[in-house]
Amino acid sequence: MAERLYVGIDLGTYQSTIASSTGSLETIETVVGRPKDPVARNFLGRDVLFGADALKNKLACNIYRPMAAGVTQDDEANLAAAKAFVTHLVETVDPEEYDEVFGVICSPSHVSFTDKSNLVATLRGQVNAIMVVTEPFATAFGIGEISGSIVVDIGAGTTDIARLYGTFPSEEDQLTITEAGDWIDGQLVELIRKKYTGAQVTKDMVRKWKEEFSYVSGDDREQMVELSVEGKKQVVDIGDLVKDACGLIINKVGAAVKSIVASADPEYQPILRNNIILSGGGSLIEGVADAVAHEIADIGDVTVTCVDDPIEKVATGAMALAQEMPDEQYTAIN
Ligand SMILES: Nc1ncnc2c1ncn2[C@@H]1O[C@H](COP(=O)(O)OP(=O)(O)OP(=O)(O)O)[C@@H](O)[C@H]1O
Ligand SMILES: [Mg+2]
Repeated sequence: MAERLYVGIDLGTYQSTIASSTGSLETIETVVGRPKDPVARNFLGRDVLFGADALKNKLACNIYRPMAAGVTQDDEANLAAAKAFVTHLVETVDPEEYDEVFGVICSPSHVSFTDKSNLVATLRGQVNAIMVVTEPFATAFGIGEISGSIVVDIGAGTTDIARLYGTFPSEEDQLTITEAGDWIDGQLVELIRKKYTGAQVTKDMVRKWKEEFSYVSGDDREQMVELSVEGKKQVVDIGDLVKDACGLIINKVGAAVKSIVASADPEYQPILRNNIILSGGGSLIEGVADAVAHEIADIGDVTVTCVDDPIEKVATGAMALAQEMPDEQYTAIN
């Protein structure tokens, strides 16, 4: 029999992860850089850069975030960037040593691969057969929670929520809202500009501050950061603003979870209410599980927890699924 490699691929708005059946695991920011001109090309010594390498050289490159919200997937440059990125991601797990590669793929829910044809085009040549699943389902499978749970993946571009009864969730079992990490960053930028008039901050700056310091409850904490106000250096406290910005997502997530519970089979509702699992990078916000539990406490007894290692859980879950699924579940793409 041909030697087969199984991979789980989590194509994320902000970062992507691949897990393979040999145990390798790689996370790369979903960014592609192409040198702007021949001078940059010469200086950088390569035609395409990925992840942190691309960001480090962002002023010398045209930067693409091919999975970001608002990027049209039939735009040729972004499609080419997506293809280059996925090729690079898959190459990190040494696929050339195998006869065939079978992959379970999660792509951002806001990316409308209408008939999945762009996703297939992106993966063709890298993977022989694919199966596409949602992030919450892959996570649930990986942690053995596919029967009787609600998984809430708070990513960068979207928060994806699914209720699981032991089968593949249907459309009605899933809900996506656009409030997630990027949205929090946008709120934080506004709060900072409001408090410190003329402050020059970018979403990339505030994302780093948020990740270092995120929390949603308790007393305001101090977080001194350096920023420019009209070109002049200032050191200011944004601790209260980080709490406020992160806190804004709680009632959005709470409302979505409530509607997923309310539309479930009533016999299952108590089970679902008591097994709400938060995942994705947003689940790293300190205190987020307790805050969501408090927010939805009016629907009855609830239990909200966070997964361990949320950044890699989608990919490792997808890989576990890839190994378990019979061949008929896959679509051959070459
Ligand atoms: N410690 C932290 N506190 C708060 N937010 C965090 C923390 N660490 C990461 N994040 C945020 O989590 C998000 C990234 O999470 P994740 O990797 O799950 O997203 P993604 O898979 O790229 O996006 P999507 O699933 O929407 O396509 C970013 O917005 C990031 O700023
Ligand atoms: Mg994700």
